Amino acid sequence: MVTIEENKSLQQLHTFHLPVSSRWFVEYQSVEELIDVLNMDLLKQNPFLQIGGGSNLLFTSDYKGVILHSKIKYIEIISETADYVNVKVGSGVTWDDFVEYAVKNKWGGAENLSLIPGEVGASAVQNIGAYGVEVKDIILWVETIEVASAKERIFKKEDCLYGYRDSIFKKELKGKYIVTSVVYQLRKNPEYHLDYGNLRDAIGSGDLNLQVVRDAVIKIRRSKLPDPDDYGNAGSFFMNPVIPISQYNQLKEKYPNIPHYSVDNQLVKVPAAWLIDKAGWKNKMSGGAAVHDKQCLVLINKNNATANDIMTLAQNIIDSIKELYGIIIKPEVNYI
Ligand code: EPU
Repeated sequence: MVTIEENKSLQQLHTFHLPVSSRWFVEYQSVEELIDVLNMDLLKQNPFLQIGGGSNLLFTSDYKGVILHSKIKYIEIISETADYVNVKVGSGVTWDDFVEYAVKNKWGGAENLSLIPGEVGASAVQNIGAYGVEVKDIILWVETIEVASAKERIFKKEDCLYGYRDSIFKKELKGKYIVTSVVYQLRKNPEYHLDYGNLRDAIGSGDLNLQVVRDAVIKIRRSKLPDPDDYGNAGSFFMNPVIPISQYNQLKEKYPNIPHYSVDNQLVKVPAAWLIDKAGWKNKMSGGAAVHDKQCLVLINKNNATANDIMTLAQNIIDSIKELYGIIIKPEVNYI
């Protein structure tokens, strides 16, 4: 059933937990219901925004239009071979419930992405990533409804134009399609990706299996990233900047320990967390917003922060990183 609520508090519906509300809040449980919703006058006459788990959003004020949320929740095997299983997952399924399901069935591909907050629909828009894996690595196709026509359209992985935390759904087609399900291809004979950071150390030398990898990823994440129920946050607030090698080499003369990941033979990615940390931002506050002490890339709602507190802190960090290193860092979080 479609549910329509008015003046709905969003405090528990986004992970910064700011005291904001939405004029209308609409939830649907199936593709058919979404099509009905898109044909309503309410949607035709007001701006609207599709949200998932609200784990990558910064509401800068109350939302004046309609917030849409998918409750399409199913996990269904659609085909399999000796090596692979193709699983179709509804957009409203909690991402980590899907990872847990894959690991329990001993199907590989999603385990490095354990405990990432949010829902399946957003995973395909955002190209979520962690510990050397991005969700695009396991996506086969993405099923959507076009907002303008309320008709179905399937995007093959290649059509999604995936990049680092990026896709066609964030750029050219932003707001034009709503993801209803994602088809992932998982491996019956897992290939492990353990070379990122301290993942291999966290796993240790015992038996290696998908559950062991999942447990290690969860342990690392819990040690660095704050639980939004303790301190509201949206994970990494900024993206890691990609800079020319020449600029990196100049920085390296001044900061010999600056870490980097090679992108191609002209570009390198540097961790924004390192830049922010070395600039002295750890624990710094603006009103109720603070830089997390265990991961400087994460801004937290430490003490009844307002959206303004978070925006001010973010802007001050951006300005200082530009002045100190000549690098412009960009928010990963969407300002609404
Ligand atoms: N570092 C510092 N100070 C800090 C934190 C980190 O100097 O406060 C240094 C670390 O020592 C390391 C480097 O920065 O050399 C990178 O740190 P980390 O491995 O924690 O990863 P990250 O680049 O900061 C990215 C993702 C995370 C993801 C991790 C692990 C982005 C924007 N963030 O963070 O994703 O969990 O790698 O793969 O790409 C998210 O998107 O919300 C998110 C948490």
